[in-house]
Amino acid sequence: MPEPETTVRRAVESDDTVLLEIDRTSWDASSGFPSYQETVRESFFERCGPEAHLVAEYDGQVVGYLRLQDKYTFPEGAGVLAVNGLAVAQSARSRGVASALLEAAAAEGRLRGARKITLHVHSTNAIARRLYERHGYLVEGTHPKEFLIDGTFIDALDMAKML
Ligand SMILES: CC(C)(COP(=O)(O)OP(=O)(O)OC[C@H]1O[C@@H](n2cnc3c(N)ncnc32)[C@H](O)[C@@H]1OP(=O)(O)O)[C@@H](O)C(=O)NCCC(=O)NCCS
Repeated sequence: MPEPETTVRRAVESDDTVLLEIDRTSWDASSGFPSYQETVRESFFERCGPEAHLVAEYDGQVVGYLRLQDKYTFPEGAGVLAVNGLAVAQSARSRGVASALLEAAAAEGRLRGARKITLHVHSTNAIARRLYERHGYLVEGTHPKEFLIDGTFIDALDMAKML
């Protein structure tokens, strides 16, 4: 049997339910904010719509998303994009799904004429940091003791990749 394929496409409204479930179950204290996870949300797209999201399908099922937005709203910052969320369902991890999403984000950035993609990651999120480094993201800055999560201060890292 051939390996199932990972494909990436733009999100559509009907992805809402499955993305909400992925968002509810993907994050933990090393990667996200427990207070946000406790918030009851009705809709995945309530903060920003499908147009800001790439979704990955593995073997025909939606298994992950990447939120890609302009970092700044003013013209001097045009050309800098931000990954403002990346998550893959637990059951679909370690199969290259996040890698496919990051490659698609870089391709979209180049198409849009962007020069740079930035993101924030908790210092405690070793899996994500390794993933970003493999994709050419470098640490641009560290914010020591930025968050208090489960009783421990953690650093926040700014990472970026030039396109
Ligand atoms: C971080 C996260 C998005 C990674 O998703 P993923 O789809 O598992 O990532 P990938 O499969 O592309 O890469 C992860 C690992 O799988 C390995 N991998 C990739 N394709 C593979 C394959 N076909 N077979 C086996 N392993 C594979 C990668 O080499 C990598 O391993 P390494 O880090 O030891 O080098 C996911 O763990 C997640 O959703 N975490 C919670 C949310 C989060 O932390 N988001 C980022 C916040 S900044």
